[in-house]
Amino acid sequence: MCGIVGYCGKKNATDIIIHGLKNLEYRGYDSAGISVITKDSIKTIKSVGKLDKLEEVYKSNPIKGNVGIGHTRWATHGNVNLENAHPHLNSKNTISLVHNGVIDNYLELKEELEKEGYKFKSKTDTEVIVQLIDFYYNGNLLNAVLKTVKRLVGSYALGVVCNDNPSELIAVRNNCPLIVGFAEDGFIISSEISSIIENTNKVVYMDNKEIAQFNLNNTYKFFNYNLDEIEKEIETMDLNKDSISKNGFEHYMLKEIFEQPDAIRNLLDKRVINGKINLGESFFTAEEIKEFEKIYIIACGTAFHAGEIAKFAIQNFTGRQVQVEIASEFNYNQKFVDDKTLAIFVSQSGETADTLLALEEAKKLSAKTLAIVNAQNSTMTKQADKVMYCYCGPEISVASTKAFTTQLILLYLLALDMAEKLGTLSEDKIKSYLDELKTIPERISEILERKDNFRNIAEELKNQESVFYTGRGIDFTTAKEGALKLKEVSYIHTEAFASGELKHGSIALIDDSTKVIAIISQEHTAKKTAINLEELTARGASIYTITDFDDNTIKQNSKEVIKFARTTDFFAPLLSVIPAQLIAYYTSLARGNDVDKPRNLAKAVTVE
Ligand code: F6R
Repeated sequence: MCGIVGYCGKKNATDIIIHGLKNLEYRGYDSAGISVITKDSIKTIKSVGKLDKLEEVYKSNPIKGNVGIGHTRWATHGNVNLENAHPHLNSKNTISLVHNGVIDNYLELKEELEKEGYKFKSKTDTEVIVQLIDFYYNGNLLNAVLKTVKRLVGSYALGVVCNDNPSELIAVRNNCPLIVGFAEDGFIISSEISSIIENTNKVVYMDNKEIAQFNLNNTYKFFNYNLDEIEKEIETMDLNKDSISKNGFEHYMLKEIFEQPDAIRNLLDKRVINGKINLGESFFTAEEIKEFEKIYIIACGTAFHAGEIAKFAIQNFTGRQVQVEIASEFNYNQKFVDDKTLAIFVSQSGETADTLLALEEAKKLSAKTLAIVNAQNSTMTKQADKVMYCYCGPEISVASTKAFTTQLILLYLLALDMAEKLGTLSEDKIKSYLDELKTIPERISEILERKDNFRNIAEELKNQESVFYTGRGIDFTTAKEGALKLKEVSYIHTEAFASGELKHGSIALIDDSTKVIAIISQEHTAKKTAINLEELTARGASIYTITDFDDNTIKQNSKEVIKFARTTDFFAPLLSVIPAQLIAYYTSLARGNDVDKPRNLAKAVTVE
């Protein structure tokens, strides 16, 4: 997704901005550019493709200046080319702007400006913003930007510089993240903490409809859209450079897979205090929980799978029905959401456009909303009634791993907390579940120790055209997550089949070249799934079975059995997903793919 970096300070802006953009690379982009105010003019360079290309342009054409903006673009309006790459400038080349987000009314504004004689070089919504600033500009950049943003409908984070005001950087936020870092040498703005953390851990998270003005003389001001000055608290982040380094691992994905035991341990330490669940003082009270007649979980991709898995635990622990929906589909379905509905939104980034829209919709229908999010201060955390953080640190690899397992932990704790407040589980039962959760980190570590085994399996899978996952019930939902992980990083076609559904059609695909990964971890379905394995091997399939059972039918029908320690059925996905993550990682590696930045994908999907 698009990313913004801007700088106003004593150092060379170009170096800081390019370095900052590199830390945003993992979000996914297809072109990049920077504008820096130099002695005589605004100098802009752009490139299509990776940032190395931009650096090459920069090396042959060094730009020095203290104020500038930069951008990595993930195409939405218009093709991937230099014209559409940011920054965009007015026709006099005196104002330059970078934009993250989508402007819904850009065509109307464009038509209006065209009537005034404005010409457009690109197909982007962003160029309309800079031309509108030009239209309103009469020597005061802040006022012109303010008049412009008041006309915009949509989401935006903007960085703006102007030749006539060479010591000034303007930043605005509305529904797209924008963070300001306060370094000793100056100010750095960014869509993300990862491009700030190497300069400073002192930050301000801008809120919606706030505009900021930074000056080279080390002064700054924040305003609302009425131009009232506002006080913002400078926070000190509990992060350091290591949080965004690979820490000796070859890829972020592997590092993040290995971080899971600690991430889960830390989260449990935060949320289970003296043996009691503590979701924070402001969490839903017993009275509020008793009022909920319906529970929805809404999310996308991996976060959606966490919701699907948690449904089993919430339903079983509380006796309440749970509806899990893909956020992008939620708006088209008939909704049974009202003021007696708890709507839970799960998201690593807290910026996923589809999930944010579903949240907005649920709020309109008066639901009580809860966001389970990893990225602190992200948009979702500001919009939901209650927030629970995953606290697993920045997840940089596009493929989500540690966010998934920590989302699951929070959802399990939520299920137990609700059961306690509703009186549907005894104190002893809740305690035994909490004790079981505490054993999970150690058990994940045991699987991680066997990582070379997964490298071997990856060698056997790497040339496949298709790999299928299968399982029943909870195992089917984990299978879906395994299939998603494998396809997104290896580019091998994968699908997950409910084991019982195989013979209703999909089994037609099975022959002696087929490789299947089965997940069997549930007491009440293990036998049945084992029989389904027989049906698959009878048609020639080779099966790798991820299981916590010691079962002869499973052994006889598996090319390889990947064992993990037996745990409560509900929590088994926390363990069975680990082999699936490692198989995906090593298969991607064996195929020579860009593991952390798979093609066509973006880390935070901020467009619908
Ligand atoms: C898969 C993956 C995606 C995300 C999905 C939702 O590995 O990362 O499927 O899970 O795009 O993103 P968030 O959780 O940021 O809302």
